[in-house]
Amino acid sequence: MKQSYPVLPLRDIVVFPHMIVPLFVGRDKSVAALEAAMADDKEIFLVAQLDPAEDDPGREDLYDTGVSAEVLQLLKLPDGTVRVLVAGKQRGQLVSVESANGYLTAHVTPAEPDEDEAVEPASAELQALMRSVVDQFENYAKLNRKLPAETAVQLAELDDPSRLADAVAANIAVKVSDKQALLVEKDPQKRLEMVFAFMEGELGVLQVEKKIRSRVKRQMEKTQREYYLNEQLKAIQRELGNEGEEGDGDEIAELTQKIATLKLSKEARTKATAELKKLKTMAPMSAEATVVRNYLDVLLGLPWGKKSKLKRDLEVAQAVLDEDHYALEKVKDRIVEYLAVQARTNKLKGPILCLVGPPGVGKTSLGKSIAKATGREFIRQSLGGVRDEAEIRGHRRTYIGSLPGKIVTNLRKAGTSNPLFLLDEIDKLGQDFRGDPASALLEVLDPEQNNKFNDHYLEIDIDLSDVMFVTTANTLNLPQPLLDRMEIIRLEGYTEDEKVEIAERHLIAKQIEAHGLKDGEFTLTNEGLRALIQKYTREAGVRTLEREIAKLARKALRKILEGKVESVTITPDNLADYAGVQKYRHGLSETEHQIGAVTGLAWTEVGGELLTIESVTVPGKGAIKTTGKLGDVMKESVEAAMSFVKARAPSYGIKPSLFARKDLHVHLPEGAVPKDGPSAGIGLVTSIVSTLTGVPVRREVAMTGEVTLRGRVLPIGGLKEKLLAALRGGIETVLIPQENEKDLAEIPTNIKEGLKIVPVTHVDEVLRLALTEPLTAIDWSEADELAAQPPAGVPGLGGAAHH
Ligand SMILES: Nc1ncnc2c1ncn2[C@@H]1O[C@H](COP(=O)(O)OP(=O)(O)OP(=O)(O)O)[C@@H](O)[C@H]1O
Ligand SMILES: [Mg+2]
Repeated sequence: MKQSYPVLPLRDIVVFPHMIVPLFVGRDKSVAALEAAMADDKEIFLVAQLDPAEDDPGREDLYDTGVSAEVLQLLKLPDGTVRVLVAGKQRGQLVSVESANGYLTAHVTPAEPDEDEAVEPASAELQALMRSVVDQFENYAKLNRKLPAETAVQLAELDDPSRLADAVAANIAVKVSDKQALLVEKDPQKRLEMVFAFMEGELGVLQVEKKIRSRVKRQMEKTQREYYLNEQLKAIQRELGNEGEEGDGDEIAELTQKIATLKLSKEARTKATAELKKLKTMAPMSAEATVVRNYLDVLLGLPWGKKSKLKRDLEVAQAVLDEDHYALEKVKDRIVEYLAVQARTNKLKGPILCLVGPPGVGKTSLGKSIAKATGREFIRQSLGGVRDEAEIRGHRRTYIGSLPGKIVTNLRKAGTSNPLFLLDEIDKLGQDFRGDPASALLEVLDPEQNNKFNDHYLEIDIDLSDVMFVTTANTLNLPQPLLDRMEIIRLEGYTEDEKVEIAERHLIAKQIEAHGLKDGEFTLTNEGLRALIQKYTREAGVRTLEREIAKLARKALRKILEGKVESVTITPDNLADYAGVQKYRHGLSETEHQIGAVTGLAWTEVGGELLTIESVTVPGKGAIKTTGKLGDVMKESVEAAMSFVKARAPSYGIKPSLFARKDLHVHLPEGAVPKDGPSAGIGLVTSIVSTLTGVPVRREVAMTGEVTLRGRVLPIGGLKEKLLAALRGGIETVLIPQENEKDLAEIPTNIKEGLKIVPVTHVDEVLRLALTEPLTAIDWSEADELAAQPPAGVPGLGGAAHH
């Protein structure tokens, strides 16, 4: 080794002996040093800088140990920098540095034996160490991709421990300071141990790195795959036309947001959160996810905490009811009283209102008005034909395609938690093997229970206590427990005058508007309207009337559009042109007093009706036959009437022997209408007596009343409807049971004024009033004789009509 060399300071690399490295040299001093070396023996001293950033290092900026090297190649680049290839030779200790001729010169002493000096063969221990280092390097090279694979092979051939240590040191990635330490260490064994330790540390890091890399890669692949599949799915959906599907993420975020912001009950929140968690783990398009999504939709769609502001002003309520409905004074009074209690107690814990009456009297539309009057949302839920409990209460979610019940669905639709629910036609509720919807309704309608109504689908309790329930029915044919919870308000039907008013105030205007008729184009005179009511309708309510008016409006509109006329005025004279053939004969159904024909009064679902009772005798043996679709109770009434007449026959002038030769046939025409109930009793007796005695019945008299076997007249129901029917039918006198006289207080005066109402207690009174002639009892001295031999000309069959 020489004593002095030009110095090439290195910024960030440590060169070991026997190592060939390319270097880029840019600093003037370094270039000058190289030039000096090239001019001499091409040898140079390489030493690392302590601070790589130092541009003009002096002695104190350089490490103490460096390496002498030979410049193998030198290439001057056009920008003035130089590229050299150097080969490290021997470690040298820097003694001093002097700066002259534009470069540094180092005075050095060798720090390791010369190359050509004999080296003693490596000990066994050293050999083993060398082998481990080589093995370790192989592992290291495998993990570190930057190393060419053959480096390890080359290393294995080195048998000098010092060279091996240097070669490894040159190839591993460690800090400059660590490399410098390797350079400083003179003992090859120690150096081998050091590189081994470095490699081991590095290997640990590399292994972790590899693990991380592969994990990252796997994850990337998975997300990429999912992304790809999702994109494909979206593309497919787009193809199928399902565009606008929200992304999965958006949906979850939206639901989370909803759960956080809605005023859910505690139970609902727990449930919703749990379901959302489930949804997150599911494939978005799977069937289960759809089920969960629907559930959340229903649950979160309920009107949590949303309420309409209620109107509590009773005067306003009354005004709204009055405006929408004519008449019905008592009904409206009752409703306003009910609202008054509500306003004061701020609660709905009263009985449920039940509007009962024949069709078309305004039950449904009253319900709507109550909603308007109280400021509630209106929801009409028809119960007609509901047979399945699940329709009220929902299906359990275990069923595929299960749905919540009507109550929950409608509550959602209402959008507020305090709507008015009109449960329409509660008497048409069915019942079968699928459970009893009425019992589910009980829970809904019970103010004590309905703050915890449990829908099978939702599985949580919902509070119905703010909902106002109103029910409607045609009859009171309801399960008793339901009846107990309701307050019945009856709408019996309208008189002709009331119908005229309703039509003039509401129906005509409504139809004019519905048909797009203009002002003055359509007029229905008062007389025309009356004729329409009398000849084309026969009903308790006004539904048919409304339909008939619609028909008139339609025909009128057509005429106007065809340009035949400019406006239409309908009077009784031209009514038939528009309304068609007259449907009913107004006034009495009979024009003459008839034998055996009695006008009874019946109460049916569609209101009161006139009911003709006819009977005739036919040859036979005293049997009785009934026709006209009579119910069991009415058939029994016929038998009871017959027995009564048999028992009293002689006092009415009927020979008992007659019953041995004649059968009696009782018929109630209009066979399509089912008839039942006991209230035809006195009518049946009158008809039978008239037939057997041949005395005609007064045509202008109608009657209603149950009869006992002893002839006492018992009270009946539905008096107002029956009286209305009598009035409609042109009857003058109505016989009613004495015990019903108290009910007359409830009957509007205009009905009472139009009829002569006679209370009766016994059948004898009925016969006296209804038959055209008084009856004379049989003289008992002749009775036996008469019974023995048939008299000629028995009255009864086709007796002449008396006038
Ligand atoms: N008093 C009234 N004033 C004004 N309009 C009335 C009155 N009564 C009934 N109407 C009208 O008659 C029509 C039929 O009434 P609605 O549908 O309410 O009958 P309903 O009693 O519910 O019959 P159903 O038992 O068949 O359901 C409606 O257009 C209603 O507005
Ligand atoms: Mg209705």
